Amino acid sequence: MSTIAIYPGTFDPITLGHMSIAQRAATIFSPVVVAITEMPDKEETFSLKERYDMVFEAFRDNDNIIVESFSGLLVDYVKSKGASVVIRGMRAIADFEYEFQLALANRKLSPSIETLFFMTDNEYLFISSSMVKSIAKHHGDISSFVPHHVAYKLHTHFADTREK
Ligand code: PNS
Repeated sequence: MSTIAIYPGTFDPITLGHMSIAQRAATIFSPVVVAITEMPDKEETFSLKERYDMVFEAFRDNDNIIVESFSGLLVDYVKSKGASVVIRGMRAIADFEYEFQLALANRKLSPSIETLFFMTDNEYLFISSSMVKSIAKHHGDISSFVPHHVAYKLHTHFADTREK
């Protein structure tokens, strides 16, 4: 029997760390839905459409990974998919407090939904979307942190921003 799992996030932009989590989750769950959302109180670099396109391209060759976007509460979206498992990646102690809060809030809102944490692979432990953006902004090499199409998009974005 296959169980659907939802891997939510802002993915602004998707990194190799995110990809590793989704692909590992997809060896246990099927399908894994990578669910991208807006964060009204967070200044995003890329639009929802741009983030969706980058994530979609990243998982082009992964049959049991689906990409969607959602708005509103995560628990409502999870229920609308008939799912009860949420996947999150955990990099280090620094992530713990935020992730713990998020998982407990979701649990309070919907006790039947379980959040499962995947420990990030060693080689991606230090990668975050914001760190990658900061390196790209200063023309650094981000090729080992994000897939090629995302590196291209980031460099183009920051080149465009500089021209404005
Ligand atoms: O990649 P992020 O920014 O850490 O993802 C956070 C995300 C999008 C998973 C979380 O903020 C979320 O679920 N937002 C949807 C709104 C919601 O359900 N809020 C209540 C739980 S905090």
